[in-house]
Amino acid sequence: MSSNKKSQWDSNLTFILAMIGSAVGLGNIWRFPNVLYSHGGGSFMIPYIISLFLLGISFVLVEYAVGFKFRTSLSKILYSINSKLEPVAWIVLTIVFLITTYYICVVGWDLIYLVLSFTKAWGSNPDLYFSQNVLHASDSISGIFTIVPNVLVSIVIIWLAVWVIIRADLNKGIGNVSRILLPLLCVIVVIFVIYSLTLPGASIGYSQIFSPNWSALADPDVWLAAFGQIVFSLSLGMAIALTYASYLPEGSKLVDNALLVAFSNSGFEIFNSIGIFSILGFMAMTSGIAFNDLVTEGTGLAFVVFPQALNMMQTGFIIGPLFFLCILFAGITSAIALLEGVCYSISEKFDFSRKKTAAIVCTVGFLISTIFATASGSFILGIFDAFLNNFALLFAVLLECIIFGWVYDFDELMTTLNNNSRIKIGKSWKIIIKYILPACIFGLWVQGILTTFEEEDPVSITIRTILLAVILILPFILSRLPAKNEDFYEKIQ
Ligand code: PHE
Repeated sequence: MSSNKKSQWDSNLTFILAMIGSAVGLGNIWRFPNVLYSHGGGSFMIPYIISLFLLGISFVLVEYAVGFKFRTSLSKILYSINSKLEPVAWIVLTIVFLITTYYICVVGWDLIYLVLSFTKAWGSNPDLYFSQNVLHASDSISGIFTIVPNVLVSIVIIWLAVWVIIRADLNKGIGNVSRILLPLLCVIVVIFVIYSLTLPGASIGYSQIFSPNWSALADPDVWLAAFGQIVFSLSLGMAIALTYASYLPEGSKLVDNALLVAFSNSGFEIFNSIGIFSILGFMAMTSGIAFNDLVTEGTGLAFVVFPQALNMMQTGFIIGPLFFLCILFAGITSAIALLEGVCYSISEKFDFSRKKTAAIVCTVGFLISTIFATASGSFILGIFDAFLNNFALLFAVLLECIIFGWVYDFDELMTTLNNNSRIKIGKSWKIIIKYILPACIFGLWVQGILTTFEEEDPVSITIRTILLAVILILPFILSRLPAKNEDFYEKIQ
């Protein structure tokens, strides 16, 4: 966007709302409750809060400082630090882009459920309905040539919405959408949680998450899970915070902003989980199914267990749409954030306008997403998710940690952060970023490798190999292509 004027947020509030919108996503709504429950309930809060302060906020601060100091895209920042590092930026962005292609599909499924929820059209067996009527799922690759029309339509709608938002100017698109959707999301969640608490059996649910199992704290997996949730939930290393911070005006209070965003994101997931668990408690009481058997995450929670619970409620046609609307809003504000960093790097290097970049990125993204609109879609999505999230993304975050902590002159970042903020950052931050954070990410990454590569069927191996090739070859090409914008090669001090 060099020939275009550099975009800037019209107010600090818009930046905060966009940042919270980027962080609050599917992970907060359907991942957190299960992680909390299965790792010790109330006692999980200890590793969670430590991870949030020590690691999560520390890394968000790195992204803010780098984005704010360089005021440019990830690819140009890494090129400026060392021209050999440019491919790393494109690797990160390719991974983020691929994650978006299936993230949008899940938001599309949610859109389908939003429509279904008004009439509880999933009937008495939501499990079967989800796999047969919604996904037309085959759990092998044989359905790759069978398009599932309803999923395709929902993916088209979400991609169109995302395209319309990101092609508009920063404040008119992402800014306005965040200003509208985020307050709405908060209102919906408050109604959802208050209503859930009034259901019979609610206390069976929420008391579970707050009853601590202290012995869990001795388990290293619990600490890794807490850290993993923070990485996922705050969207660490995905170039979102970095890109959004590069649009901040001079004099912005970076540390204060980072704390506000991180607290809001965690507050949202903790508060929302009270509602989810109250509903599961209600369901356990009404159906007689053991609470343990109901707790699940991801699509299982949203599209199977939740519809089952709604079937048992007379007011299900109100609370259902609210819940699916919540996921829709949270999903859209995260999807646009995921794409903004990708678009910024492309438009800056190749001197494309915002509109042209949005059109290219959304078209290619949509074409990839169509794979998930086939009968094998959910099967392939599972493989994409495991590989990209547990393996590729963590590796990218590790690289970023090493680059910003070791290759770049770190003290510069400290000055940038402390310049205007009321809360100052001390030397301990440096130790965290240089030593503790990379060690923890490495631990998560090794754990991710062990779980991802457990699956040894030939289809998974083939898909993973294709993804790996894309993640390595595309960045190589993009970094080799000459920049259309001469400024790209000017090193920023
Ligand atoms: N943090 C967001 C969420 O919880 C965005 C995100 C998307 C994070 C994809 C990781 C992967 O959904």
